[in-house]
Amino acid sequence: MTNETESTKLAIYPGSFDPVTNGHLSLIERATKLFDSVTVAVARSVGKEPFFSHEQRIRLVEQAVQNQPYSDQVNVIGFDGLLAAMATRMKAAAIVRGLRAVSDFEYEFQMALMNRKQAREVETVFLMPALSWVYLSSTIVKDVAIHGGDVSELVPPTTYEAIREKLAAMEKS
Ligand code: PNS
Repeated sequence: MTNETESTKLAIYPGSFDPVTNGHLSLIERATKLFDSVTVAVARSVGKEPFFSHEQRIRLVEQAVQNQPYSDQVNVIGFDGLLAAMATRMKAAAIVRGLRAVSDFEYEFQMALMNRKQAREVETVFLMPALSWVYLSSTIVKDVAIHGGDVSELVPPTTYEAIREKLAAMEKS
């Protein structure tokens, strides 16, 4: 039952989003059905050198969600530092992560338990993308694109354009 005094539930969907794919969009849409608002948090540091800069990755997520029917419920931010600390500061109810296959499970389980240790009040919720995107990852999209494959149906149109521009610039340099 909902009423006006009930507090709104915020979920944080963190990730590298290098770049955002249709699998990520599927997760964002699903999360908006469970939570009042969803903050997509794009991590600055992604370990190795990212394909797209932090600013570009944030912009690509913003562009991907801006014309979606659920866009009113979605905010896109960049972040640096400890995810659990940010989730506590934002009073988030949950951290949302995608699970595609068993291979994702160990890393995700470890991360969820560590985040719970750091922020006891924040749950991790795992969602599965639409079946058509279960095999997708940003890494595999980049690899296919770099080697000349067609990724136009795997990423939002604005991301596809950005990948093409980036590859063209790499070819020139
Ligand atoms: O899309 P990714 O690369 O799987 O996302 C991983 C991410 C960014 C969610 C994770 O590395 C993260 O939360 N980084 C922020 C630093 C942090 O809190 N690390 C401890 C996680 S238990």
